[in-house]
Amino acid sequence: MEERKGRRLILFPLPAVGHINPMLELAHLLYTKGFSITIIQTDFRSLNPSKYPHFTFHSLFYGFSRSDFEDIPTLLFLFNTRIVEAFRECLGKLLHDASESEEPIACLISDFWYYFTQSVADSLHLPRIALRTAGSASTLALATFPSLKDKGYLPTPGSQLNVEEVVAELPPLRVKDLPLINCKHPEKYYEVVCSSANESMASSGVIFNSIEELESPELTKLRQKFSVPIFPIGPFHKYFPSGSGSIDSLVTSDETCISWLNKQEPNSVVYVSFGSVATISESEFLEAAWGLANSEHPFLWVVRPGMISGSEWVEPLPSGFLENLGGRGHIVKWAPQQQVMAHPAVAAFWTHSGWNSTMENICEGVPMICMPFFGDQFVNTRYVSHVWKIGLELEKGSSRVEIERTIRKLLEENEGKEIRERSSNLKEKAKRCHEQGGSSYCFLEDLIAHILSLES
Ligand code: UDX
Repeated sequence: MEERKGRRLILFPLPAVGHINPMLELAHLLYTKGFSITIIQTDFRSLNPSKYPHFTFHSLFYGFSRSDFEDIPTLLFLFNTRIVEAFRECLGKLLHDASESEEPIACLISDFWYYFTQSVADSLHLPRIALRTAGSASTLALATFPSLKDKGYLPTPGSQLNVEEVVAELPPLRVKDLPLINCKHPEKYYEVVCSSANESMASSGVIFNSIEELESPELTKLRQKFSVPIFPIGPFHKYFPSGSGSIDSLVTSDETCISWLNKQEPNSVVYVSFGSVATISESEFLEAAWGLANSEHPFLWVVRPGMISGSEWVEPLPSGFLENLGGRGHIVKWAPQQQVMAHPAVAAFWTHSGWNSTMENICEGVPMICMPFFGDQFVNTRYVSHVWKIGLELEKGSSRVEIERTIRKLLEENEGKEIRERSSNLKEKAKRCHEQGGSSYCFLEDLIAHILSLES
């Protein structure tokens, strides 16, 4: 813990697991570096302040109803329009109170997707730094949307795209790897993407949960495009000892995962998780279940309640499915993922390729099977399989035969062995970035100096 810096930071996370977790990790990190932390949150998925006694909390009222959950772009649009005045009032009051205290507010750090916070911060003369919880390659793709639209790479009603074509500006991404979301109002998504990128370009800097060496060409291009300081200081979770419990997610983990893993052979288990948002159909679920069973490898599978469309939990499984596997399969509702990934029994990770999962995985050197669902997951999959070459791609909707074949390829064949070697080399690289003189270590020092230099 470093000496207190006499400066307070206001953090405003987007209320989703994949965004709150990295923002909280950043909060802990900056706290250990001597900053005081205030978190503004909403009544939509709020954290329990008693679990974070060293942070100060303020709550805003969203008042969401079920009909607001039409799709992700609609939700993002509402996040940016419904609480503008409440947020301005809250921030104004915090600034006023701070002006009468010994501890000035240095800046606001808000999620990349909260584009409205830039103009609110500007109007209060408070610098804003954006936190991009996903990777640089996907961010570069989002920031290139206007030109992609002009060149006809983005789908429009009636357009016929060659989805296999490599996008000239963003190799090796193909048209089908662009960070798109299947939704009712694609124009709304386009608007949210452009606003988020533009407002980040107007910010006082962007923090990435990434590593310079991992995405160096993309970070170079982003620095040219954004013209504001960019700080890749990830992986955030590795600033804390593994399993230190410094981050308490919104969901409670099933601790039987670890006792079950303790009973498995080293390097034998396929860990399966599709993150906190993605859903699958009943038939996709059953193909996955049979693919795992037929691979004959042990598996630990996170099936969130509600993840299978039309089902509460795992009712579609044939009766006796797990029992017939003789203990070779374990299904839970939520796992302590960072601990699972670091467990010596885990040999492969079948993932939806969310950025947090990808980073957590890179740090443990576990080969991946990537099955992207939406948005940046397509970009991450392409980088895992074709740039870093630490995993295989598996299309959503694959049959049990393809699933079994992919698992066997990764765990039993030569190609899998090469992937394992590359994964372990990348793990070592990731480890070095936090050591003194390493890239994230240096960017973190730069970030702290930058924050202290900001004048509000
Ligand atoms: C979403 C999008 O899906 C993703 O593409 C984007 O990059 C961030 O927002 P999510 O689906 O939540 O993310 O996936 P991911 O980014 O991988 O984050 C999931 C987090 O939940 C990880 O930190 C993971 O460790 C944690 N997790 C997941 C658990 O702790 N237990 C679980 O069982 C599953």
